[in-house]
Amino acid sequence: MSNREKVALVTGAARGIGEAIARKLGALGHPVVVADVLGEREAVAEAIRAAGGEARAIPLDVADEAAVMGLPGALGDWWGRLGILVNNAGISPKGPDGKARPIREMPAEEWRRVLAVNLTGAFLVSQACLPPLRARRWGRIIMLTSQAARAKSQIAGAHYTAAKSGLMGFARSLAAELGPDGITVNSIAPGRIDTPMARGTTEGANAAFAANIPLGRLGTPEDVAEVATFLASEAAGYLTGATIDVGGGSYMP
Ligand SMILES: NC(=O)c1ccc[n+]([C@@H]2O[C@H](COP(=O)([O-])OP(=O)(O)OC[C@H]3O[C@@H](n4cnc5c(N)ncnc54)[C@H](O)[C@@H]3O)[C@@H](O)[C@H]2O)c1
Repeated sequence: MSNREKVALVTGAARGIGEAIARKLGALGHPVVVADVLGEREAVAEAIRAAGGEARAIPLDVADEAAVMGLPGALGDWWGRLGILVNNAGISPKGPDGKARPIREMPAEEWRRVLAVNLTGAFLVSQACLPPLRARRWGRIIMLTSQAARAKSQIAGAHYTAAKSGLMGFARSLAAELGPDGITVNSIAPGRIDTPMARGTTEGANAAFAANIPLGRLGTPEDVAEVATFLASEAAGYLTGATIDVGGGSYMP
C-alpha cells in the first residue's frame, strides 16, 4: 500500500506537536485529517494542501463520545482508507501562577477533565477507529504520553501524570490485543518540547529543565514528528508496545 492509501487521523493537530506530525505525514503523501477543538485546524490543513499534500480539517473534542462516534461520517470517503491514528490531543492545566496545582488544591472537575481528554479521549478515538484498521489488517496507532509518566514530573500536575501513566498502560493492552490484526501500537514520551502547552508554565521552569538536558535544549515539535512518522512507517512494522523517549536525554531509564 502506498502512503496515499493510508489516511492519517491526528487529534489535537491545530498547533504544537500534533501540527508538526500532521504536516510531516502530509509531506510523506498520507492524506491527513487535522482534528481539533481549535479553529486553527483549518489553517494547518490548508498549509498541508499548499505544500502539495492532501488534508481535511474536522472539529473534534476527543472527550465528547457522541462526536467521536461521528468520525465515520466526518471522514466520509476517507474512512475505509484509515491506516494511522495519532492520539495527540492533550491538556495540562496550571494554576494562575503557571505552576501545577498541588493535589490538596486540585478541583475534582479539573482532574476529571484531564482524565477525560488525555486518557478516555484516546480510548474513545482508538476504539472508534478499529473497524477500518482491522478490516485492512494494517494499522499504526501512536500515543503521545509524556516523560511525566516515566519519572517524577517536574512541571505537570498529578492529574496529567496519572492520565499519561494510564495511557501507557492502555497502549500496552491495545498492542497485545491488536497484534494479531496487523496493527501496531506505540507510545512517544516527549520530554520538554517548545509548544504553546510548554510555554504555559513559568519561563524559569523551562530554563531549569533545559539546563538538565544532555542535548542542551528543549525539543522542537519536529523532533517528535520525526519519531512519529517513523512509527507510522512500514519500516517500524515489527515494533509494538514500545515507548520511545524523545527528550534529549532528560530521562534515561
Ligand atoms: N510540549 C511538551 O513539552 C509535551 C511533553 C510531553 C507530552 N506532551 C504531549 O504531547 C501532546 C501535544 O502537546 P503540545 O505541547 O503540542 O500541546 P498544545 O497545547 O500546544 O497542543 C495540543 C492541541 O490539542 C488540542 N486539544 C486539547 N484538548 C482537545 C480535545 N479535547 N479534543 C481535541 N483536541 C484537543 C488543542 O486545541 C491543541 O491544538 C499532548 O498530548 C501533550 O500532553 C507534550
